[in-house]
Amino acid sequence: MSYFERIKNTPIKENPIIMGIETSCDETAVAIIKNGREILADEIISSATEHARFGGVVPEIASRSHTTAILTATERALKSANMTLDDIDAFAVTEGAGLLGALLVGVSFAKALAFSTGKPLVPVSHIRGHIAASYLADKELEPPFISILASGGHTAIVAVEDYYNLKVLGSTIDDAVGEAFDKVARVLGLPYPGGPNVEKLAKSGKNNIVLPKMLKNYSGGEFDFSYSGLKTAVINYVHNQTEKGVEIVKEDVAASFQHSAVDVIIEKALKGAKKFGYNTIAISGGVGANGYLREALTNAVKDKGIKLVLPEKRYCTDNAAMIGAEGYLQYKKGNFADLTLNASAVMPL
Ligand code: KG4
Ligand code: ZN
Repeated sequence: MSYFERIKNTPIKENPIIMGIETSCDETAVAIIKNGREILADEIISSATEHARFGGVVPEIASRSHTTAILTATERALKSANMTLDDIDAFAVTEGAGLLGALLVGVSFAKALAFSTGKPLVPVSHIRGHIAASYLADKELEPPFISILASGGHTAIVAVEDYYNLKVLGSTIDDAVGEAFDKVARVLGLPYPGGPNVEKLAKSGKNNIVLPKMLKNYSGGEFDFSYSGLKTAVINYVHNQTEKGVEIVKEDVAASFQHSAVDVIIEKALKGAKKFGYNTIAISGGVGANGYLREALTNAVKDKGIKLVLPEKRYCTDNAAMIGAEGYLQYKKGNFADLTLNASAVMPL
């Protein structure tokens, strides 16, 4: 009997234990999640320092690092949960979006685990995973809610209508917000990863440079974003000042950019909540780790009767716990893959 013949009718457990595996970018991550909400283990081995000297993630290096790190991350996760592979009910793995070669390491590894244990293989969307991190942060959280998706590849306001139906109200028409943080970091001479370094520098800067508030009154989609104009404005400002022989205050550039980048996200998230009558806003994706965004959002919802879900910073940036959380939802639906599962560099939500 083929693997899929064996597993396709596996009874769905009430409180399953799911192993989440994430290798879409530069973090090799493995987590063990109970019942979709409880983190039993959560391991990350990052190759970020290997990419730093190149100023960004080098796909080839990322793939090789995953290959050498994935078994160690898995063994650490099992050890910290005091479990063996026998205790795992299903293997959830990021199938996309991300770097193809990097994704293939996780997908192949998860297949091997599923095949050898005879347990289901559950394919997970990285983006849905980011959004599902909110269920780990707030164990009582139930849809509907508005999710702010702000990562290196995506920027969107998403209406989470129920656990499975996610409606993108609007998204970026060009660059993602994380991408803009990374590009501004480069212009300011800050090392990779850019986002956290811009945040650090902005702490001692003032928001005193006028930059465009992208698409604030754009007539296309009211929830759409654009970051390419803001990025260009920062680049132009830095070049113009340098040409004039005026020394730029990098801290102020960082603070002004950060303010412009974040302000519009908050405004659109509040607008989304109001329009749909949702009283919860959650944040997801790497830029969700930004302290300024978290604080500004906290202030913005004050006295508005809106509950905020802010996953811990490590669950905003790439991790495997979120893949286990989304894997749980897909497991419950019996969304199992066979061993022809492939990775996809791009994936619709
Ligand atoms: O979600 P994520 O870890 O990976 C993707 O799926 O893209 O997001 C990575 C992005 C990067 O652009 C990174 O610079 C940004 O999130 N980021 C931050 C912060 N931490 C990570 N941006 C601003 N402030 C931060 N503290
Ligand atoms: Zn991500």
